[in-house]
Amino acid sequence: MERPTWAPQGIDLSVPSVSRIYDYYLGGSHNFEVDREAGRRAIEAFPGLPKIMQANRAFLRRAVRHAVGRGITQFLDIGSGIPTFGNVHEIAQEADPAARVVYVDHDPVAVAHSRAVLEGNERAAVVAADLRQPHDILASDGVGRLLDLDRPVALLLVAVLHFTADRDDPWAAVAQLRKALAPGSLLVLTHASTDTGPMKPEEGEEVQSVYRGTASPLHMRPRADVARFFDGFELLEPGLVPMPEWRPDLPDGAAGGPGAGELRDDPASFVGFAGVGRKP
Ligand SMILES: C[S@@+](CC[C@H](N)C(=O)[O-])C[C@H]1O[C@@H](n2cnc3c(N)ncnc32)[C@H](O)[C@@H]1O
Repeated sequence: MERPTWAPQGIDLSVPSVSRIYDYYLGGSHNFEVDREAGRRAIEAFPGLPKIMQANRAFLRRAVRHAVGRGITQFLDIGSGIPTFGNVHEIAQEADPAARVVYVDHDPVAVAHSRAVLEGNERAAVVAADLRQPHDILASDGVGRLLDLDRPVALLLVAVLHFTADRDDPWAAVAQLRKALAPGSLLVLTHASTDTGPMKPEEGEEVQSVYRGTASPLHMRPRADVARFFDGFELLEPGLVPMPEWRPDLPDGAAGGPGAGELRDDPASFVGFAGVGRKP
């Protein structure tokens, strides 16, 4: 198979990647047939999957605007993915041109494409690192150069924690990240779950079985396990809720994309949890 210029040398093109499958759901062009095939199988198990992803992106944009509205202009976006439309740096820097954004991902395509998109943007950077190694992220060049951890930061863990297994103790990794943040910082999170929305547990199991064929299997979790990621933080209103329910009236800044109102009409977009917590 011909390797396109955006695909770094050395990546295994025979194994689907969660980052490229997500790009496929969102209608992007940074994916291979192996990713599209996995995406199609997952959509067969639950046809509303692309709507969930749109609701996730729309929540992410609203949460970023909310953070800037609270005066937070520093963003650490871990599991940031392959840039698509309405990216965090675009939303944040449109709301406040001084905003600084550090993207972190362990997927080579996500990192390479982010680097290309960010060229010439001195207030944004991408770090190749793993969420399960928070020390590497905090000690990275990008974080050291762009973020002042003595001031509030919005830590974004959006649609990423469900790609970590219980045995890797993602709660400990997130606790380490929370500890590094200044008071007033925000934790912005979404997580797959069959506890809310119309996805039946057996449909969830089928979707998860597709992801077992990737390097980052999917782990849907019950509400209580998701809530633990916010330990010690105060959940902002309206709490841990389905994505379209989180402050649907905020503009999400996505010209052409579905707004929260439109997404609220589709029950599929209610699968999974979204929340924003604040460090006291
Ligand atoms: C579904 S995408 C979400 C992208 C973006 N946060 C969003 O919500 O639109 C999940 C991303 O998390 C990344 N990811 C998964 N496990 C990771 C880990 N342990 N460390 C860093 N990134 C990870 C994947 O490579 C992928 O790009």
